[in-house]
Amino acid sequence: MEVARERLMTLSEVIWNPAVDPTEGSANARALFADVFGNEPDGVWSAPGRVNVIGEHVDYNGGPCLPIALPHRAYLAVKRRADRTVRLVSAQTRDAVDVMDLDAIGPQGSAGEVKGWAAYLAGVAWALEQEGYGPLPGFDAALWSCVPQGGGLSSSAALECAMAVALDELADLGLAGTNHAPNDRGRQILVNVCRRAENEVAGANTGGLDQTASLRCRAGHALALDCRDMSTEYIPFDLAAHDLALLVIDTRASHSLADGQYGQRRADSEAAAVALGVPLLVDVTDFDEAMATLAGTQEDQPRLRMRARHVISEIARTRAFIDLLKGGELSGARLRAAGALMNDSHDSLRDDYEVSSIELDVAVDVARACGAYGARMTGGGFGGSAIALVDVSAVDDIAQAITSAYAARRWTLPHMVVATAGAPAGRNP
Ligand code: GLA
Repeated sequence: MEVARERLMTLSEVIWNPAVDPTEGSANARALFADVFGNEPDGVWSAPGRVNVIGEHVDYNGGPCLPIALPHRAYLAVKRRADRTVRLVSAQTRDAVDVMDLDAIGPQGSAGEVKGWAAYLAGVAWALEQEGYGPLPGFDAALWSCVPQGGGLSSSAALECAMAVALDELADLGLAGTNHAPNDRGRQILVNVCRRAENEVAGANTGGLDQTASLRCRAGHALALDCRDMSTEYIPFDLAAHDLALLVIDTRASHSLADGQYGQRRADSEAAAVALGVPLLVDVTDFDEAMATLAGTQEDQPRLRMRARHVISEIARTRAFIDLLKGGELSGARLRAAGALMNDSHDSLRDDYEVSSIELDVAVDVARACGAYGARMTGGGFGGSAIALVDVSAVDDIAQAITSAYAARRWTLPHMVVATAGAPAGRNP
């Protein structure tokens, strides 16, 4: 017994979670559609999850972020209908088809509230019509996804964005452009539509990072996104070419953006901006002066000071990281500096923004102790995923060490992904 436990604690297995090939993902969605609805879809559209390399909890403060799209995608087989009915099924809930009328869908809290995962799809149809892109035809849709669900890798934005590009084509809106020639302005309109779906219909008051990443990233590139005006810059991001890898550790510890904590952080940021007399925290120009202004001890000042310290410093770190990436090969001092910025980002999220979790901290600490250049939580936090910038040759050992650390604590074992920069939302062949 004791021996068996010892074995588990030292020889835990790493669970890799690779993306399925797009042909297979597409075929899975088609098969589900045919199985449930008894005919062929008009097509399959898909959208990726994302990893944010740095720039966390700054999107709603107008700051910069640096996401890449994952090769993990949500695949949606869709067929246009002649009426205004919507029927939705997912591989996870294949026996329960959600049926609704486009005229009856409404925001959270209204009579038309949509519950569960279906809100992310139905919400996009609702938001498109709210933005004047209607009336839309009804549709049947079958979802198959390999984006880790609840892993902080934007599984919900992937659903929204796959739905958005599908409806764009089926209703002939002309906003997405083609896979080879994406329409940037049109895609930004779809970003706003998907964000409304998430904020108003699904009820998670998130910023625009996830939807922008899913709709506007480019394969082989990181997206330097300026959330003040949603302008973009594409930076080549091929870590393997430099013998590096971005290891993603999905802690599989619960993570939900609709549970109130995320909203509280947003409210704190807004309150800090009000106290500092700026529209958004990105508008702060003098860090020391801002800290001095928030140095009071009364009421919520100490907390707001911590929140502002994270946001303002994270904006500076992200700009510095983008400059490092643009400035030349990620090696030597440049690589060490990039890793240090990732480490500082995590520490700030843990200590000042208080959105990390024990599972994320252990993953980050073990990765660093095993030689990662930098490691940090990614995404909203409170569980979800961490990332580590590592040598390709160290990937297996670091993944093993983190898994062993989880096994020793008798936690659910993490899932691992080596992230490469994938393609944005679009139609599948
Ligand atoms: C979640 C939200 C994003 C962003 C990140 C934190 O992923 O959906 O809008 O705020 O958290 O950077």
